Amino acid sequence: MKSSRRLGAVKPSATFAMAAEATALRKQGRDIVDLSVGEPDFETPEHIKAAAREALARGQTKYTPIGGTDELKDAIITKLRRDNQLEYGRAEVMASCGGKHSLYTAFQALFDEGDEVVLPAPYWVSYPEMLVLAGAVPRIVPVPAARGFRMSAEELEAAIGPRTVALILNSPSNPTGAAYSADELAALGKVALRRKLIVVTDDIYERLTAHPVAHVGALVPELTPNLVVVNSVSKSYAMTGWRIGYTAAPAELIRAMTTLQGQTTTNPTSIAQAAAVAALAGPQESVTAMAREFGERLKLMLAGFDALPGARLAPPQGAFYVFPDLSAYFGRRGSDGPVTSATDLAMYLLRHAGVASVPGEGFGAPSHLRFSYAASRPLLTEGLTRVRDALAALH
Ligand SMILES: Cc1ncc(COP(=O)(O)O)c(C=O)c1O
Repeated sequence: MKSSRRLGAVKPSATFAMAAEATALRKQGRDIVDLSVGEPDFETPEHIKAAAREALARGQTKYTPIGGTDELKDAIITKLRRDNQLEYGRAEVMASCGGKHSLYTAFQALFDEGDEVVLPAPYWVSYPEMLVLAGAVPRIVPVPAARGFRMSAEELEAAIGPRTVALILNSPSNPTGAAYSADELAALGKVALRRKLIVVTDDIYERLTAHPVAHVGALVPELTPNLVVVNSVSKSYAMTGWRIGYTAAPAELIRAMTTLQGQTTTNPTSIAQAAAVAALAGPQESVTAMAREFGERLKLMLAGFDALPGARLAPPQGAFYVFPDLSAYFGRRGSDGPVTSATDLAMYLLRHAGVASVPGEGFGAPSHLRFSYAASRPLLTEGLTRVRDALAALH
């Protein structure tokens, strides 16, 4: 059967492709250390699960308002005030089916055919594809590892052309873990303000950092009429499967997004909404504990890659990924033949070392591979040993 031209231009998610290959090898009985996935290995905290059970027991199993229950909207408002010093009202927030769905809905509501959107590279694999689906054109700004993968205000200024309407910020970043300092964010925010850009901030990893940084919306409050804040409970609360993301933005954008959501998914799952209320407005100790453990695992990963000849790694400040440059190994040969790209190397590591990673091409960084450290310390140690041995076997 034919499929639409629109979809012909969209690539499948590179992260899920690698995870699928790892699952297939596991089914054949292979022992795979899966460092490809972008989800915490922790359980959803108990008080959040209890809130879902209570919602079920009291029959919260019907449609809710499209953008979420008032309780969830209030929990989002509380969270944004508590963690980000941002003030929003109920008409300015909405929930969707995961942060990815929030971003998709926002892009569809924001952009017209040919609108340019500044996207620093390396970027999360889904941004360019979701922009293309909205008719927008990613204006990719490559930012080198040597500068910590952080775009400067000058680079932003230079990237803005007559059709540029928006900027996407993701700090800490997937895949690099790079996080902007308050000064850097304020400088970017001021350029965006002066050049009248919409700023979409994807804050999904904001709680998983060693040093919390003020929000660009709090640093440059004049941006508020052009600011779109996207976040999700997926990573901070180990809730990837619950599918709750949210957006805060001017009321007219929330109205447009609500219209689209009302004609597509309707509301996010009613039970998951009740769980998200407990996550956002309830006790926050589990987030701090997870962030601390990720910090310890990062030390382990940094030591592992430091000891690898040929690996160059800009130390991340947050999230749970390392993104080393392994291009020193391109051009060598493995038992199946030459390794000439990040995809070849990731395949080699998967097939010969049983370690799943994600090649950098899909992130706009073809010299790099992404390894998630959302796995137990013993598993990370095992993964690092296997990677070291497999790389040493290339000649
Ligand atoms: C940068 C970034 N934004 C958004 C998402 C979407 O997360 P979710 O849809 O699970 O809330 C992800 C997930 O990997 C991500 O890495």
